[in-house]
Amino acid sequence: MKLFLDTSDIDVLREYIKTGVIDGVTTNPSNLSKAGNQPRKRIEEITTLFKHGDVSVEVTEQDPAAMYKQALEIAALAPNVVVKIPCHADYYPVIHRLAQEGINMNITLVFTVAQALMMCKLGVRYISPFVGRWDEIDVDGIALLHELRAMVDNYGFSTMILAASLRHVRHLNGAINAGADVATLPPEVFVKALAHPLTDRGIERFNADWAKLGIRQFP
Ligand code: E4P
Repeated sequence: MKLFLDTSDIDVLREYIKTGVIDGVTTNPSNLSKAGNQPRKRIEEITTLFKHGDVSVEVTEQDPAAMYKQALEIAALAPNVVVKIPCHADYYPVIHRLAQEGINMNITLVFTVAQALMMCKLGVRYISPFVGRWDEIDVDGIALLHELRAMVDNYGFSTMILAASLRHVRHLNGAINAGADVATLPPEVFVKALAHPLTDRGIERFNADWAKLGIRQFP
């Protein structure tokens, strides 16, 4: 399973890449807008930092023809850019055309197994089901991940399931149990997932017991 960070904050990315477990990045218009007014520069920094991992960059145009043109420009920014396009009915022809032209895409805002199946048929690289936004309206978002895993495997599609909108470590655990190919995590969820209070307590106890020996050097 791959882990991506869901942020455009370059300082945070520089810090957490050191853990060795981050495989890529997902950006979106909301987190890019928070990261300042030079989104292109920010994307160039991120794609350079993660040159061996996929970096999703979302289209901002809404007219399909303008979106197609923008998608090609985004794809040309770096070889590891994946173009993110919302799963909206109006954009199917754009997604179809880009797929035929070999553009790597991450289809975002996927909420049903039916939408996901259609995107798999178009041959996109990733589908991003939004777990947390289902949970916000009291629907089990993790259940969707299980449905998508079964659907992709039943039909032998090559599209990867990228669990998105994960708001808690429990969502990450759910994504792992559902067999998602990738989970993208906001930095605060990533940090929480690294730690456990019982691990901390266990270390304290080992240190205290070891200190009783009163030796300075070991081995
Ligand atoms: C994924 O690619 C999206 O950027 C992200 O997970 C959205 O999460 P949110 O619902 O917390 O905004």
